[in-house]
Amino acid sequence: MTDAFDPTVTITSPTDEDPVLVSLRAAAWDEFIGQPAIKQSLQIAIEAAKQRHEPLDHTLLYGPPGLGKTTLSHLIAKELGVNVRLTSGTALAKAGDLAAILTNLEPGDVLFIDEIHRLPKAVEETLYPVMEDFALDIVIGKGPSARTVRLDIPPFTLVGATTRFGTLAGPFRDRFGMTHRLTHYQPADLTQIVARAADKLSIKLDTTSADLIAQRARGTPRIALQLLRRVRDVAQVQAIEIINQNIVEQALRLLAIDQAGLSDHDRRFLELIIDKHRGGPVGLSTIAATLSEDPGTIEEVLEPYLLQIGFIQKTPKGRVITPAAYQHLGLSVGETKPDLVQ
Ligand SMILES: Nc1ncnc2c1ncn2[C@@H]1O[C@H](COP(=O)(O)OP(=O)(O)OP(=O)(O)O)[C@@H](O)[C@H]1O
Ligand SMILES: [Mg+2]
Repeated sequence: MTDAFDPTVTITSPTDEDPVLVSLRAAAWDEFIGQPAIKQSLQIAIEAAKQRHEPLDHTLLYGPPGLGKTTLSHLIAKELGVNVRLTSGTALAKAGDLAAILTNLEPGDVLFIDEIHRLPKAVEETLYPVMEDFALDIVIGKGPSARTVRLDIPPFTLVGATTRFGTLAGPFRDRFGMTHRLTHYQPADLTQIVARAADKLSIKLDTTSADLIAQRARGTPRIALQLLRRVRDVAQVQAIEIINQNIVEQALRLLAIDQAGLSDHDRRFLELIIDKHRGGPVGLSTIAATLSEDPGTIEEVLEPYLLQIGFIQKTPKGRVITPAAYQHLGLSVGETKPDLVQ
């Protein structure tokens, strides 16, 4: 493995990432906690590619926001000892934008395309021969005199990240040699992530506090790290030096995060299905319309965790609220509380 290598990171599109979270990004495999199966399979593939002096196969990472897709793509480049170029599906509006990036790649580089499901169709199709044969077809000129020129691109690795695997076209998905789905983290993994971040940020907290933050973070490292910082704020204004359970509980109350890690937003979603649709089944578009929320956001951001903790189920007829969710909300199954939803 390359320890000394310090890859160049070229950002081709603006990033809206929080600088503190970026500074906490895992810089080596041992700092990347959890997801053992993905980690192992990537480590083997990277080692094998290095032995063969070939680029790593194109890799697609998918899963709900905040689970480590961007982090993994940086780690992949670092472990390969290559540079990484970052861009996103929204930044690549035309095939020409893509050509500019591709022709500047060094052999073996990693090209990371975030939100790859947002690539315009024309750009996506330009990528097909690039991914298969490292050949870029460019159309020169317009009308009858237009002709296609084929450019050779240095062999590279495309790493795509998406929260919406289902919306990627089949032929596109098939061109990735490896596809990994990131799943929510176990509380024990999140405790480790919180403890490590606290250490890096010089925040002192006891183990019960780290556990409590981990339990309420919806299985998501990004949320755990955000919670940690809100907890630090509460401790700071009270001049508490070592964060304890009481401080964490105060912060969670302020944020209206309940025992299961649910926010007001999640509870409203569940209550709406209970009150307006008798607990379901109800279709996504109906829920979206009643909540005035985009169906994509509900499916990618809100539902995955509720599904994972068994508070909702997806059936062919739509979403159904489970007994566990009724219990969590203090209701008996089938009961409604009309005053809950306005
Ligand atoms: N396995 C992990 N171990 C330690 N920290 C992690 C891990 N996964 C994610 N993090 C941290 O959580 C934060 C969010 O991770 P990241 O930005 O990689 O998520 P993402 O999947 O790319 O999210 P999005 O879909 O919103 O782009 C980062 O600060 C990162 O350092
Ligand atoms: Mg990301």
